[in-house]
Amino acid sequence: AKVHHHDFVVQATPVKRLCKTRSTITVNGMYPGPTLEVNNGDTLVVNVVNRAQYNVTIHWHGIRQIRTGWADGPEFVTQCPIRPGGSYTYRFTIQGQEGTLWWHAHSSWLRATVYGALIIHPKQGDSYPFKNPKRQTALLLGEWWNADPIAVVREATRTGAAPNISDAYTINGQPGDLYNCSTKDTVIVPVDSGETNLLRVVNSALNQQLFLKVANHKLTVVGADASYVKPFTTSVLMLGPGQTTDVLITADQPPARYYIAARAYASAQGAPFDNTTTTAILDYKSPRQVPVPTQIDHNLFFAVGLGLNSCPPGASNSSCQGPNGTRFTASMNNVSFVLPSSFSLLQAHQQSIPGVFTTDFPPQPPKKFDYTGNVSRSLWQPIPGTKVYSLKYGETVQLVLQGTTIFTAENHPIHLHGYDFYILAEGFGNFNPSTDTSKFNLVDPPLRNTASLPVGGWTVIRFVADNPGVWLMHCHLDVHITWGLAMAFLVENGPGELQTLEAPPPDLPPC
Ligand code: C2O
Repeated sequence: AKVHHHDFVVQATPVKRLCKTRSTITVNGMYPGPTLEVNNGDTLVVNVVNRAQYNVTIHWHGIRQIRTGWADGPEFVTQCPIRPGGSYTYRFTIQGQEGTLWWHAHSSWLRATVYGALIIHPKQGDSYPFKNPKRQTALLLGEWWNADPIAVVREATRTGAAPNISDAYTINGQPGDLYNCSTKDTVIVPVDSGETNLLRVVNSALNQQLFLKVANHKLTVVGADASYVKPFTTSVLMLGPGQTTDVLITADQPPARYYIAARAYASAQGAPFDNTTTTAILDYKSPRQVPVPTQIDHNLFFAVGLGLNSCPPGASNSSCQGPNGTRFTASMNNVSFVLPSSFSLLQAHQQSIPGVFTTDFPPQPPKKFDYTGNVSRSLWQPIPGTKVYSLKYGETVQLVLQGTTIFTAENHPIHLHGYDFYILAEGFGNFNPSTDTSKFNLVDPPLRNTASLPVGGWTVIRFVADNPGVWLMHCHLDVHITWGLAMAFLVENGPGELQTLEAPPPDLPPC
């Protein structure tokens, strides 16, 4: 196994898109940032130097970070931000994961432009569980704002209104030739007739689920979130922000140019994808080394959705622009997550610093209600808090994620840091424990790090708490995490193990 050293210089760089040039935060002057390519088993050492005017951290999305929680990256969760002029070295080893992941900034909305692909090839000497592709291309789907994305979210936070939507969707940072003055800003993916290539598709957009299609071509899905799947063929992919999908594509059409197109669906209401017809999708090929856990230690139920809060008193001149003089908020089990500011959660946990968080994150919603119906006003107002849910090392969690319909139904891509989880089942409406448990796939469910919670529906996931640390779980639509749609799991050290987590690196930035 190799050790790969990289320097990431975070800096402001002029970038021109849609006819306008704006100062953009980049890594090494590149937008999107550099692609990292490693083999399973290798170690990455990335020295991040902050030459921008904003605080920054980098998250290695989907990397398990076994015993290296200090390298996970979410600001104020596993580290304090790297201040302007500061630096921090992330050091971690890829353990058993193969496929496509990505890295992105995990501070405010910096990930709008600070992101890149993290490609994990098979272990040295191993081959793919499918025919070796001739070429490989990463396609990072994203969003471009003409304004500075940090200014966009600051303005939205100040007014309490929904933030401005982006001005373009992008593939590898390019809007493509259907947008204004972007004819040259179009990615070209070369293929030879007859060859089979691997496309590594990442949804790095901030606030949009996206559909991707290649005109006249079929796509064979072979992996997702750096786990292999039993291959299946489809013509359209749907990815929530944070998700990745690896597909094989064979150049079996008459030689010509074909569009690769990704777009959002028009309305949040009514999912165009009927996930009850996609059963073949869940059918995995390779026998699992880790079977689905059957004994459950924690049966959790999180009601996930939006809400409204009253404006802070004294917000006199920054009038709240949510409906009826309120501001938007979001919650899990009626707790709207607030990041700490003096210590990261991981530091506070490891050094037993009191007052940074509490361990009373509720395992169930405060009261049961019709999650997809008309919700009573008293449940519209989540309570802000920095609460974690504690797990002992090795315990098993089953978690029902139930979307609520508080003034609107939405899809939420829920991402758990530090873990892959099995998705046992999903459906529309209210989760019904007496009938829906029979739908659980305990044989070969997909293993993911990000689950799309269906619009007005539910998803059931299971995982074993085998990675000590503090791990954020949040909606990967950035507008929702801004509003508090997050919580954290605190996973204790193993029995008799005093220091299973390594000591914090000496250059860990202070708050
Ligand atoms: Cu890509 Cu906290 O996530």
